[in-house]
Amino acid sequence: MPPASDADFSLAGAPPRPGGPVILTSPAAMQRWRRDHPGELGFVPTMGYLHDGHLALVRRSRAENPLTVVSIFVNPAQFGPGEDFERYPRDEVRDLALLREAGVDAVYLPSAAEMYPPGYQTYVTVEHLTQRLEGAARPGHFRGVATVVLKLFNAVSPTRAYFGRKDAQQLRVIRRMVRDLDLPVEVVPCEIVREPDGLAMSSRNVYLSPEQRGAAPVVKRSLDAAAAAWAAGERDAETLRRIVRGVIAAEPLAALEYVSLADDETLEELEGRVERPALLSLVVRFGSTRLLDNLELA
Ligand code: PAF
Repeated sequence: MPPASDADFSLAGAPPRPGGPVILTSPAAMQRWRRDHPGELGFVPTMGYLHDGHLALVRRSRAENPLTVVSIFVNPAQFGPGEDFERYPRDEVRDLALLREAGVDAVYLPSAAEMYPPGYQTYVTVEHLTQRLEGAARPGHFRGVATVVLKLFNAVSPTRAYFGRKDAQQLRVIRRMVRDLDLPVEVVPCEIVREPDGLAMSSRNVYLSPEQRGAAPVVKRSLDAAAAAWAAGERDAETLRRIVRGVIAAEPLAALEYVSLADDETLEELEGRVERPALLSLVVRFGSTRLLDNLELA
């Protein structure tokens, strides 16, 4: 099928599968279904509690592939001690209704016991890329992400896998793993989907109190301020980071955890004049909720 751009979310795929998607709950069942459904297949891995950002990935996959599989698995291996694994929002009934409506062919819903049975001890580590930013703030997080994504790929055998650009470091880690391990999967990055006020969609936005939710668009506003300076010719890395800090500092409910301006591919922090594609990213805390956002500067 011809590739669709991010702007083509509305492209219709095949009509929804009569009776809704098949639900597969173990790696063996997923692999069997895949053997019975050869050919090109698009895959959208998720942790559930679906929002329009996920559904945009599904629409793109359906537009570009004759078959689409979505996984829902809240992966314990990517949460650190004291993080929000237990309280991570879950609503399987609603998710399945949305996926049925979206016309996906199969939903892969493995249990933690199927994914990590007793005796489990094999993990994937992408080395340098995971040392900074979210990797430094959340030790072990990307080891859990890379491991589960490889396991999901092994079960689903996708032709293409769709990831949002919001989790910018995750996208780069997965791309690196795919290259390094010669995985026969095309990783397709998709644009960030935002609320009308600019807040990037995330399942974790539900944690925000009404006051915090009202203040949260400051995150995007800080990136917009840096984007405007960049468009006007500003190229000094520290000045661009300072612009972000200044906008966040003006919002009393927001606490900046970090802002980074890094090489777009290696994620090494940049100093002085920015001469190559760069990723401006930040994490802002509203109470105990961490909001991530980013902007690619090229
Ligand atoms: O981005 C996510 O939702 C998760 O990190 C992923 C890729 C589904 C792996 O658990």
